[in-house]
Amino acid sequence: PIACDHGAFEMKEYLIKELKEHGYIIKDMGTYSTDSVDYPDFIHPLAKAVNDGEYELGIIMCGSGNGAQITANKYLNVRAGLCWTVEQAQLIRMHNNANIISIPGRFVELQLAWDMLQAFLNTDFEGGRHITRVDKISKLL
Ligand code: RB5
Repeated sequence: PIACDHGAFEMKEYLIKELKEHGYIIKDMGTYSTDSVDYPDFIHPLAKAVNDGEYELGIIMCGSGNGAQITANKYLNVRAGLCWTVEQAQLIRMHNNANIISIPGRFVELQLAWDMLQAFLNTDFEGGRHITRVDKISKLL
């Protein structure tokens, strides 16, 4: 699934087009125009679906990427990573076993967003020492 607010609507449309052209089946969870909206209204449904195991991986965006990421990470089974380089997108999979990528619609070019998304989708969790660390993330004090 993919979701965003108005700050990343154009990016969402672009990424959906690329994903479809590359054979992915993608659920569009909005927003559906550049009209101003509140990002939690679109991010919560996607994050809950990933949290509940309905989907393995998700893509979220807002202007900065932060509002979307902060919202998604309220769910205990969600690990959403904010990315602005391809290496970051690889690392959130390799080290953090991230199940959601957050992209800042107003701060990265469309091509970079697609490159990061491909890296996210095609990189596996490394496991090993990172398993213990990732397991500790949701063990709140
Ligand atoms: C919307 O103007 C903007 O606040 C939002 O897209 C996002 O950047 C919030 O974190």
